[in-house]
Amino acid sequence: MRAWDIEGKTALVTGATSGIGYETALGLLRAGAHVVIAGRDPAKTARVLAELKEKSGSDRAESVLGDLSLMREVRRLAADFLARHDRLHVLVNNAGVITTTRTVTAEGHELLFATNHLAVHLLTGLLLPALRRAAPARVVTVSSAIHRIGKIHFGDLMLERGYGAFKAYAQSKLANILFTRELARRLEGTGVTANALHPGFVGSNLGHQPGALGRLGNLFATTFGKSPAQGAATSLYLARAPEVSDVTGGYFIDARPHSPKVPEASVAARLWDVSEQLLAQPG
Ligand SMILES: NC(=O)c1ccc[n+]([C@@H]2O[C@H](COP(=O)([O-])OP(=O)(O)OC[C@H]3O[C@@H](n4cnc5c(N)ncnc54)[C@H](OP(=O)(O)O)[C@@H]3O)[C@@H](O)[C@H]2O)c1
Repeated sequence: MRAWDIEGKTALVTGATSGIGYETALGLLRAGAHVVIAGRDPAKTARVLAELKEKSGSDRAESVLGDLSLMREVRRLAADFLARHDRLHVLVNNAGVITTTRTVTAEGHELLFATNHLAVHLLTGLLLPALRRAAPARVVTVSSAIHRIGKIHFGDLMLERGYGAFKAYAQSKLANILFTRELARRLEGTGVTANALHPGFVGSNLGHQPGALGRLGNLFATTFGKSPAQGAATSLYLARAPEVSDVTGGYFIDARPHSPKVPEASVAARLWDVSEQLLAQPG
């Protein structure tokens, strides 16, 4: 097992302005890491950055901005990070979204596929040189147990022929696990690990949907779900624990390895190739 101490290391956490990501960033700051939070709203991100510094008592925090549903903004965010840092020890791909109505981004992608999967694939790829330079380094991606009902709809990835919130969300969260497995395979022997996780059922802002049903769902999650701090525990474990230094390609729940429900390995390789093709298209 390699020695690993998060203190003094650089971590980037996406979706750090709310819920699980906020608590992940706070936990990393408290552990002595230099934390870069990624947010999309400048005012909210500035407010959260100040709050995280105050709560943690650490000044080792900064922010980068970008709407992760837009690949041009993912590219800009990565360039902004790389202009300031040549090494990245921990990337936490945490930002995520679910919507009841199908939304298409200005670049023509279905919103959940873009934000929850394509942005993870692109951002990780753009930051890979910095992760390799920092090795040993870790990529931690927040998936969900809902991946178990997911399928990659290769014939209709953008779900033009039938959208459902759970269908889209489960596809994107299965994509997180397949991406992690394929990334781990490609990075074998480099010292950069890749693991995915399910944070549990967490009362966060994720389910906030308009209308009475949305309010009911949110009340249910905040009443019966874990707190965001509890939900961040497995992300923090994968970012911080020395015992997972050599573990890669895994899927964790409550800081323990689990077997995800995934199709054969060729599906992960196919998703990788299709994602690269989509990302190569002009936005
Ligand atoms: N909550 C659960 O029960 C649960 C269960 C399984 C998995 N997860 C996963 O956990 C992760 C964190 O979710 P959460 O529960 O903490 O939800 P949350 O409170 O809604 O936080 C989501 C974060 O993602 C950010 N985000 C969403 N769309 C973005 C975009 N286009 N560009 C940049 N940032 C964007 C949000 O930014 P704003 O602050 O600007 O909105 C927020 O910081 C997600 O990947 C989710 O799929 C959650």
